[in-house]
Amino acid sequence: MDFGIKNRLSRIFSPKTGRTVMLAVDHGYFQGPTTGLRDMENIIPLIPHADCLFVTRGTLRNSIDPRTDTAFCLRVSGGPSILGELSNEDITTSMEEALRLNASGVGMSIFVGAKNEDRTISNLGRLINEAQRYGMPVLAITAVGKEMGRDARYIGLACRIAAEMGAQFVKTYYCDDFHKVAEGCPVPIVIAGGKKLPEMEALQMTENAIKAGASGVDMGRNIFQSDSPAGMIKAVRAIVHRGTSAAEAFDMYQKSRKAPVAEVADARMEKV
Ligand code: R5P
Repeated sequence: MDFGIKNRLSRIFSPKTGRTVMLAVDHGYFQGPTTGLRDMENIIPLIPHADCLFVTRGTLRNSIDPRTDTAFCLRVSGGPSILGELSNEDITTSMEEALRLNASGVGMSIFVGAKNEDRTISNLGRLINEAQRYGMPVLAITAVGKEMGRDARYIGLACRIAAEMGAQFVKTYYCDDFHKVAEGCPVPIVIAGGKKLPEMEALQMTENAIKAGASGVDMGRNIFQSDSPAGMIKAVRAIVHRGTSAAEAFDMYQKSRKAPVAEVADARMEKV
């Protein structure tokens, strides 16, 4: 791997732990004003707690302070809305734009087993070819169609294909026997949170994923739709980077619910 790719990856994955807490806030690219992201001001206090934001160029331009020291990985695929055929995605943001915005990585979805799986996987190959020229890491996101099962066999298949195409890291969903997915994937895996769960369940899923070999999270709704988004991201961070148990992390989250809002919003946490 060349210097540029390694250097950018070290902005996403903490060199101290080899893990990452990515905050996913890209949902609007296909589902519009998502609960918790209607006003992007809500995510500003969370940014210092994330190693990396997963974000569109629109949100960067409209809502993010360019002086931030949190890295970001740019979503570069899109096309269909939630009303259309989701697997019909294409690459929508150029590599030149990713470089101009100073992205630490670019990410796109592949739809294994869905209508347009072949085109989305070919697009991933093309994106990686271009990214290689500029030292840009690529995150492949294994999107799961409504009709697809979320078991280790399917998710393992999708992750391995992404790695074989050359993605430097993969985002997927947690499932039972996740260790089989991790064992079959030669690059780091981060898990998406999926639909909002009760906080303890989301934290337990995080602990289980890390113990089964995940290198972190790229989590959105289970953080920004929580009644204490700052408390949740700090709790997730403790599990990912410090090996805190889900039960202890849940205590942290509960304490933050009782803390005055200003105290939570102003809290800055050391990266690790
Ligand atoms: C889906 O592809 C979106 O890109 C999100 O980034 C991803 O699903 C992670 O967000 P959440 O934890 O809300 O599922």
